[in-house]
Amino acid sequence: MNETIRTQLAHRTIREFTGEPIPEETMQTLFDVAVRTSTSRGFQQSVFIRVKDQAKRDELARIANQPYIARAPELLVGVLDVRRGIRILEELDQPTQGAANMVVFREAFTDTVLMIQNVSVAAETLGLGVSHLGSVLNDYAAAIEVLELPKYTFPVLGMILGYPNQEPQLKPRMDKSLRVHTDVYQEPESWTETLKDYDDEMHTYYDLRDANRRVDQFTTQIARKFIEDFNERSPIPHIKAQGFDLES
Ligand SMILES: Cc1cc2nc3c(=O)[nH]c(=O)nc-3n(C[C@H](O)[C@H](O)[C@H](O)COP(=O)(O)O)c2cc1C
Repeated sequence: MNETIRTQLAHRTIREFTGEPIPEETMQTLFDVAVRTSTSRGFQQSVFIRVKDQAKRDELARIANQPYIARAPELLVGVLDVRRGIRILEELDQPTQGAANMVVFREAFTDTVLMIQNVSVAAETLGLGVSHLGSVLNDYAAAIEVLELPKYTFPVLGMILGYPNQEPQLKPRMDKSLRVHTDVYQEPESWTETLKDYDDEMHTYYDLRDANRRVDQFTTQIARKFIEDFNERSPIPHIKAQGFDLES
């Protein structure tokens, strides 16, 4: 056990922040962590867009339907960047055909997620609170337009950071025996039976976002939300529009 792990085990998403700005030095330390993150083939195919412009923040908050995004001290959007590699190929007079394929997309997507999570852990060890933001991608086309993302780039995930102004409960997790399997994928005969205790525990959790109300049981949440908005949020047409070849 050490301080970092203690912080990780105390992780809670923070969505409300004090007005205190994050010192620039701290932000630069977090960006040092970002660029030091492991990266497929060493290609570093991920960038952050640090959104400072209030009009852009407001627009992203509107897309997300989450007003706390607009007032967070810092708003970052992790973007996968295959464009740099393609431009380097062009500058070196190398063929670029097939370069924006799904293998590279997956690689760059993974790099971007890892970078975001690395920064998230680092931020929490510094006493900052963080929320990841899938919601800024509720409308891919709009997010791509707001951030002026060119071809061969794609938004992966946003995050907000600041000094916490709330004390949420730890959100219950299912037992780790259900999430750490040995050698092969393992599953119980009945998930709803196996998750009964977890369902009860989840029902004791108060979501500060939802007027402090108890949340549904876990399996009920799955039933209610699993495919909600699925079609509207499909990234596929937008990945294509950004120049990636989905068939390769
Ligand atoms: C990929 C991803 C996207 C998320 N998107 C949002 C979001 O758009 N808005 C939000 O308020 N929280 C978002 N979250 C936070 C989750 O709701 C939160 O991690 C989850 O409910 C567990 O709660 P906890 O982090 O407090 O343990 C996201 C988390 C992840 C990993």
